[in-house]
Amino acid sequence: MLSGLLILAVLGSVRAEDGSKAWLRYAPLPGSLGKHPGLPTGIVALNSSKASPVYSAGAELGKGLGGIFGNPPQIDNNPKACPNASAVVVGTVEAFAKLCGDAAKAVPKLNEDGFWLSVRGDKVHIVGQNERGALYGAFEYLSMLGQGNFSDATYATNPEGRIRWVNQWDNLDGSIERGYAGPSIFFNNGLVVDDLTRVSEYGRLLASVRINGIIVNNVNANPNLLNSTNMRGLGRIADALRPWGVQVGISLNFASPQSFGGLKTFDPLDPGVIAFWHNITDQLYSHVPDFAGYLVKANSEGQPGPLTYNRTLAEGADLFANALRPHGGILMFRAFVYNNKLSESDWKNDRANAAVEFFRDLDGDFDDNTLIQIKYGAIDFQVREPASPLFANLRQTSTAIELQVTQEYLGQQSHLVYLAPLWKEILDFDMRMDGKPSPVRDIVSGKRLGRKLGGSAAVVNVGTHPAWLGSHLAMANLYAYGRLAWNMQEDSQEMLEAWTRLTFGLDKAVVDAVTKMSMASWPAYENYSGNLGIQTLTDILYTHFGPNPASQDGNGWGQWTRADRAGIGMDRTVKNGTGNAGQYPKEVAAVYEDVDTTPDDLLLWFHHVPYTRKLKGSGKTVIQHFYDAHYAGAATAQTFPALWKSLEGRVDAQRFNETLFRLQFQAGHAIVWRDAVNGFYRDLSGIADAAGRVGSHPWRIEAETMLLQGYTPYGVSPPATASGARAIVTASNSTAGAAVARVDFPSGTYDVGVNYYDMLGGRSRYQLLLNGREVGQWRGDLEDKLGHAFSTFLDGHSATRVTFPAVKVNKGDEVKIVGTPDGKEPAPLDYIVFLPAGVID
Ligand code: GCU
Repeated sequence: MLSGLLILAVLGSVRAEDGSKAWLRYAPLPGSLGKHPGLPTGIVALNSSKASPVYSAGAELGKGLGGIFGNPPQIDNNPKACPNASAVVVGTVEAFAKLCGDAAKAVPKLNEDGFWLSVRGDKVHIVGQNERGALYGAFEYLSMLGQGNFSDATYATNPEGRIRWVNQWDNLDGSIERGYAGPSIFFNNGLVVDDLTRVSEYGRLLASVRINGIIVNNVNANPNLLNSTNMRGLGRIADALRPWGVQVGISLNFASPQSFGGLKTFDPLDPGVIAFWHNITDQLYSHVPDFAGYLVKANSEGQPGPLTYNRTLAEGADLFANALRPHGGILMFRAFVYNNKLSESDWKNDRANAAVEFFRDLDGDFDDNTLIQIKYGAIDFQVREPASPLFANLRQTSTAIELQVTQEYLGQQSHLVYLAPLWKEILDFDMRMDGKPSPVRDIVSGKRLGRKLGGSAAVVNVGTHPAWLGSHLAMANLYAYGRLAWNMQEDSQEMLEAWTRLTFGLDKAVVDAVTKMSMASWPAYENYSGNLGIQTLTDILYTHFGPNPASQDGNGWGQWTRADRAGIGMDRTVKNGTGNAGQYPKEVAAVYEDVDTTPDDLLLWFHHVPYTRKLKGSGKTVIQHFYDAHYAGAATAQTFPALWKSLEGRVDAQRFNETLFRLQFQAGHAIVWRDAVNGFYRDLSGIADAAGRVGSHPWRIEAETMLLQGYTPYGVSPPATASGARAIVTASNSTAGAAVARVDFPSGTYDVGVNYYDMLGGRSRYQLLLNGREVGQWRGDLEDKLGHAFSTFLDGHSATRVTFPAVKVNKGDEVKIVGTPDGKEPAPLDYIVFLPAGVID
């Protein structure tokens, strides 16, 4: 009986979960931790209005305590007296003082959204400067309990930045620009959706990490958001988010007065245009009285803006700032302004210079309710960029840093990349303004320059996927973003460990494994994509997902590497190059100007050097570092699935399997990355890998060398995204093909991998046979299982690997693959690889 109960308990703890609860699971604690020695028996929430964050806090405490300890306490929203017995009291400092009098004297002065938490056994006081703060305190207390931390504590905490926003790039038709987790939870068919349940759940998640604002639509904005039906819809979105203290704002299309309002112009100084925006703004506030404000992308990537009328960006910004001011709204004006038709033939041209060139002279021209929202680096969410020099060029203008949770250039949630360490490098970077400590975090919080406004925004792009971002492990990035927005000094690993405990439970093996993988993930991704500051080397002209190093150059986008036979890197020096190094304050500029003092990991960002230049750290040449880093990064990615597998039975089956699937995909795709980048630079530089690995694949059988029936060879473009530059495709779209070969490897046990191309437009079927016996079968249906952008071609985005572990193989066996095309996908195959234990090929 006892063992039966135990089995039930174990099964209960690993029940399937779809990830929708994210880190707010309130799962029962294991063993004796499930018995809190002095749990508060009642909850007193000092607001009885259901739309109030304090009401939500009371309900959340009830849910949390009930979930974790199995005993939901009574909630009292109309207390007559200050409880002196076992209870959690949650409310604003004002309400708390009213009810509990002197007890409120213990609360220190709090800033906007701040809170004070006092846990003394079963007497818990959670007091917010405002309603939001109280709600944040409730989540904080529940987070402690959920991690088995029952200690007494008394402390206050206040946010570093007033602006702690997320951006969603959702389109009105329901698609999401750079979204990798299904369609929008906000919009469909041109309108706000009817059922906003998911929006309210998103609000709860955001509140739990102290996010206080959201821009709900794409920066490339559709003016139809301003029609009356959608204004009412925005009112409903705001109603769904208000109980969570999350204010709603929208992205604007600068040309709306013309395209939507029917005016002849959208000149920001035109009286009709000014009246249009005031009227729109007033209408919005009538639907959403606590409307947060606007986000504006102007004169960038084809978007309209004030420059069309020879007005400055500041004149354009003021138009909105003025309309918002009477209502207390905020304008976030994006610094992401650049010419995307820049000529590469001019050595001095540089997209990275654009933001400072556009904004520096406007410093002081922006209104007080305006923040310049600056992407962390000068180009575009790359795997490594120096902090944007614009942070140090605006002294009389409030700024916010823009981060990206959605992994646009960083594996699109099909690769695990924990981003907090990347963000921390930027936030901690010392700009040395006026020769004084000036970490970016202090600039954007407003502290360094004495500005009242400051903070951060992150592009998140959750979708309708139950797991929000599509990948369970990617949710650590959303969690860490919120924590950093509040306190930019948080430690990456501590945040990760807390997130893991809340997401997967307290099992140390799970916490250790997730921590190990996640902390290794950004360095690994950097290693197998683009290193030494050269950017990710993904295909910037298409999906931004897989490798295509050639795509960076030869176009006007300005993400150039300037790689040729002799050398690589952008010369951003003042002396010989684009002058970008000179946009930084003196001390920093001096470091970046000099090739000998520039850190290795930014070498190719700032300098054009021969492939044979030696690195300071390792003494290796640039090209050998490329090769070695790509081998090392891909090797690290191979360890992720094995590490995760060691957690089988410790994580519920659904999240275990879904995560394993993604990690296995990543391991395979990391090899695609490695080979494509290494092959490309080997061919370009003509310099061989000193270790002899690049282009040498002793354990592979190339599909194009096999005996083909109904298959034909196919030259892949870019060539480096196929082993040996060629693959095979079925000769027709309707008839199966077969590829046959004799195995010439020693008899033994192998993991057998097959590299194929999983394209959009079909779900081909494949069967792998050894001597006529089926080893395994699969479909080219990753588009149903992963959310990254898919390709309609054979290339670095569609190239992928499936692996069958521990297959007994005898020398001389016949290996055969039968591929059945589907739709436009001609069952494409690249190679088969026989991997002895410990070999990566
Ligand atoms: C990137 C991204 C675009 C986006 C733009 C922006 O370039 O690829 O999809 O619109 O950034 O931030 O505005």
